[in-house]
Amino acid sequence: MLKEVYDEARVCVRCPLSRTRTQVVFGSGNADAGLMFVGEAPGANEDKQGLPFVGQAGKLLDKLLDEIGLARADVFVVNVIKCRPPDNRDPHPNEIESCQGYLRSQVRLIEPTMICTLGNFATKLLRGDTTGISRVRGQEEVRTIGNRAVRLYPLYHPAAALYTPSTLEALRADFERIPALLALGAPEQPHPPELEEQIVDDVPELEDDLPEPEAGSADGQLGLF
Ligand code: URA
Repeated sequence: MLKEVYDEARVCVRCPLSRTRTQVVFGSGNADAGLMFVGEAPGANEDKQGLPFVGQAGKLLDKLLDEIGLARADVFVVNVIKCRPPDNRDPHPNEIESCQGYLRSQVRLIEPTMICTLGNFATKLLRGDTTGISRVRGQEEVRTIGNRAVRLYPLYHPAAALYTPSTLEALRADFERIPALLALGAPEQPHPPELEEQIVDDVPELEDDLPEPEAGSADGQLGLF
């Protein structure tokens, strides 16, 4: 369960950021949430407090959530990188590579229906290509992450909107669409491969009985983070 992944992450030494961090910033919010936000990396405030998005960018995130009737307690917030890069530099490819197992475990266990990627790093990682955020922001798409299909909704990073009014305007307009996108519910889930084979082998009535992938994995996690 999620607590086990957290216990592993908080003592992680998979990359050199473990030597300069104060603490691992695993993520916070409602582990049963349907909506997950993925930012870039902890900054100085996050590194000190052990929580994501607690600085100025976090305050803007809270405001934008509030404007659509949501609060932090309704969502789960994580970063691509769980440890602060020194001097707030961009994450290095080896750091993203070392850390991505934690993000994938978080998605598998939290089972969100929708993931908002905040900025270039999260968007490129979860879309699996190098297209920049300004070309894809506000364009929802169904993507399979691990064994789970989610609505992926790339957004500008709130830090980029802090000092650029036109970016803030675009981010706010994209936020306003979140409730309607959430109301669509979960996208159709991929079938586990071994059962898919059986369906192809002409056993169509099995389809209704397919077990949910990872059914029950989120048990007991509410309130842990
Ligand atoms: N704070 C975070 O936790 N993540 C970011 O990407 C930026 C600020």
